[in-house]
Amino acid sequence: MRLVLVGPPGAGKGTQAEFIAENFGIPKISTGDIFRANVSGGTDLGKLAKKYMDAGDLVPDEVTNAMVRDRLAQPDAKDGFLLDGFPRNVAQAGELDRMLDELGAPLSVVLDLDVDFDEVVKRLSGRRTCKSCGHVWHLEYDPPKVAGICDRDGGELYQRDDDQPETVRHRLEVYHLQTEPLIGFYREAGRLVAIDALGPVEDVTERAIGALTPFANS
Ligand code: AP5
Repeated sequence: MRLVLVGPPGAGKGTQAEFIAENFGIPKISTGDIFRANVSGGTDLGKLAKKYMDAGDLVPDEVTNAMVRDRLAQPDAKDGFLLDGFPRNVAQAGELDRMLDELGAPLSVVLDLDVDFDEVVKRLSGRRTCKSCGHVWHLEYDPPKVAGICDRDGGELYQRDDDQPETVRHRLEVYHLQTEPLIGFYREAGRLVAIDALGPVEDVTERAIGALTPFANS
């Protein structure tokens, strides 16, 4: 299955991507995670991306597209993948179609995680991420047993720089202006499936897997 996850910042794309990718045995490719790994590693790509990420803006398309093209060419993506955070505007969606045409492997489906504005603000303000394994926690919805420490590997939890209230507001504007039009684009192309992403994580996972299963071998 070749799958794209869409939804506003904080919708739970990263959280669900882990479970969905595992269920269907496909690699999870998150452009946000790849950029953050480059920022931590101090690479040239990371230095460039950081300016845009800290401001809550999109990294320029030519940089992002080239990074995704390289990643999709890796052997583990040959039989399918889950893209989390890409495409993020209609131009990137056109470029993804071109990449997949070249590979002779069209997109199977686009899953939209539907959540309202107030909920995403709550989810983002309480998010904490493990520095070592990257697992995402939430202070209220999914708190670690010991404050500030990851249950999985004892790593230190941190708050993402772009989860500060001012930056969150801007990211939501960028989503509304640039990413939301993608939903109409994919709906018109008959490739969109939407689910209600409110409620406990396990319930959302069940809805997602139920909605995606018919596309598992496409
Ligand atoms: P990216 O990392 O992709 O950020 P995002 O799209 O804004 O999404 P988030 O990671 O903030 O949220 P999420 O939907 O994954 O939610 P999560 O599962 O963590 O991108 C960051 C930046 O990188 C961009 O701003 C841009 O600069 C750059 N970038 C990335 N891709 C790009 C591209 N294609 N083009 C250009 N630039 C790009 O969940 C959030 C919280 O809610 C967590 O605490 C979680 O525990 C909790 N939670 C999850 N599900 C539930 C639930 N069901 N109930 C209660 N709480 C829940």
